[in-house]
Amino acid sequence: MPDPTPTLHSFAGGELGLWRVDAIARVIGEPLTRVPRLDVRVGSSHTLQQSAWVLQGTSSNARYTSAQEQESLTRIQAGLGRPEALRAALIPIRKSPAWWALAQDQRRAILEEQSRHIRIGMEYLPAIARKLIHCRDLGGEFDFLTWFEYAPEHAPAFEELVRRLRETKEWEYVDREVDIRLCRGRVGSE
Ligand code: HEM
Repeated sequence: MPDPTPTLHSFAGGELGLWRVDAIARVIGEPLTRVPRLDVRVGSSHTLQQSAWVLQGTSSNARYTSAQEQESLTRIQAGLGRPEALRAALIPIRKSPAWWALAQDQRRAILEEQSRHIRIGMEYLPAIARKLIHCRDLGGEFDFLTWFEYAPEHAPAFEELVRRLRETKEWEYVDREVDIRLCRGRVGSE
């Protein structure tokens, strides 16, 4: 959910962390180094010690959603940290200078009226829980860190969702994307 109070989120790829890395795939642009684990911190940051890479950003207010979309999202979507959500994906994304040169209304038109990002995404709620982290203004390598959590039985639906979004007009503006798939054991079993 958009978060009117920005909160720091930090993702460190390395030897430590709750999440085991299943795969790191370059979708477009420069890849990220393969690591065995991912550590996620909310409200504090990582140093680069013991990490191959650290990606950071903040939760933020919504940019594009209408009041009606916002209301539907709030009503339907699930929170993070559900016990059954043993799979996750961290998908860092950068958009091109052409995207950032557009005006707000033009970006909204591409994201929703042309690409149906929100409408498509809503079909996968509440199975897929999501968090959008912004990092463009922090000068990081990416503009967004997108985070998703789901139960193993919803993995095929998640594959379908990312495939559909990557076919849209909006994704023509994505010039760097890395797809990191993660899993964890049940609490107490690993
Ligand atoms: C789970 C279903 C999904 C829903 C309901 C959803 C919904 C949304 C919404 C409402 C926004 C706009 C936020 C705002 O107003 O600022 C957004 C932005 C975004 N989403 Fe999704 N999304 C979903 C899945 C995905 C997936 C799978 C990806 C990546 C593969 C993704 C990547 C992004 C990115 C990068 C943005 C930022 C776009 C920008 O500000 O230019 N989303 N999403």
